[in-house]
Amino acid sequence: MTVGEALGRACLRLDDAGVEDPLVDAEWLAAHALGLTRSELALEERRELTQAEEAQLTLLLDRRAAREPLAYVLGEWGFRRLTLKVDRRVLVPRPETEVVVERCLELLRGLDRPVVLDVGTGSGAIALAIADEHQGARVTAIDVSVGALEVARENARAAELDVTFVEHDVDYGLEGEYDLVVSNPPYVGSEEIETLEPEVRDWEPRVATVGEGHTETIARAAARVLVPGGHVVLEVADGRAAEVSDMLRRLGYDEVRSGEDLTGRDRVVEGRWSSAQ
Ligand SMILES: C[S@@+](CC[C@H](N)C(=O)[O-])C[C@H]1O[C@@H](n2cnc3c(N)ncnc32)[C@H](O)[C@@H]1O
Repeated sequence: MTVGEALGRACLRLDDAGVEDPLVDAEWLAAHALGLTRSELALEERRELTQAEEAQLTLLLDRRAAREPLAYVLGEWGFRRLTLKVDRRVLVPRPETEVVVERCLELLRGLDRPVVLDVGTGSGAIALAIADEHQGARVTAIDVSVGALEVARENARAAELDVTFVEHDVDYGLEGEYDLVVSNPPYVGSEEIETLEPEVRDWEPRVATVGEGHTETIARAAARVLVPGGHVVLEVADGRAAEVSDMLRRLGYDEVRSGEDLTGRDRVVEGRWSSAQ
């Protein structure tokens, strides 16, 4: 079988399994099985696959056809300038979260050695991207999941970034003093999760997806550890920005504003903890 034929078959198989972008995923998996980039695949279209390559591609396709997220099957995923290891212990970092990081970096601009806390760090995506892109940032990240912290530490080692990871449940409050507290908390309702795609519903950790009330818990806890003039930045569910903005104002934050993700939806809400508090 040639590379071109294998791609065609892979695409049909993934389409049958209900995968949203079968051609894109087929290309990623074929490239991974052959040790090529996606653009190199096109150049090798007429080459015959070896038996080992064919077997490897079949294994990867079996996993993806079972609707395991592409990122888990590949074992890594791009987030801003980093390539992060990801597996079932962590949420797959999303493009909207890259926008959360962008907003954090804007708020930190001009601060020499800002102290930052990432609540619910998962793969370490937010914490590591901030450490990577704001030189001098002193970043701590917490999570209740021991498995997630293992992945995050591994990602920090691989990227040679210095972030302190701590096992901690935000329900018990926060400690320290920070210029910025950022979080992408679990915010999917327990009934809503059953209506989502199998990739999210059946594969990503429930502790990372399902949660009600985490956003307010974090905003309240952050108010106790932010320096005057410090900021909280929260990723919120689609359609929840106005409600979360009101909640921040009620808690005493000022300069509350929301920002859009790459598809124009309000997904990032921030507030400033005023020095007058
Ligand atoms: C939506 S995921 C975000 C992961 C990562 N920050 C990202 O944006 O890709 C939420 C994370 O919060 C963690 N978490 C859930 N409940 C928590 C709690 N009570 N205290 C601290 N972390 C919690 C989960 O384990 C998960 O890693």
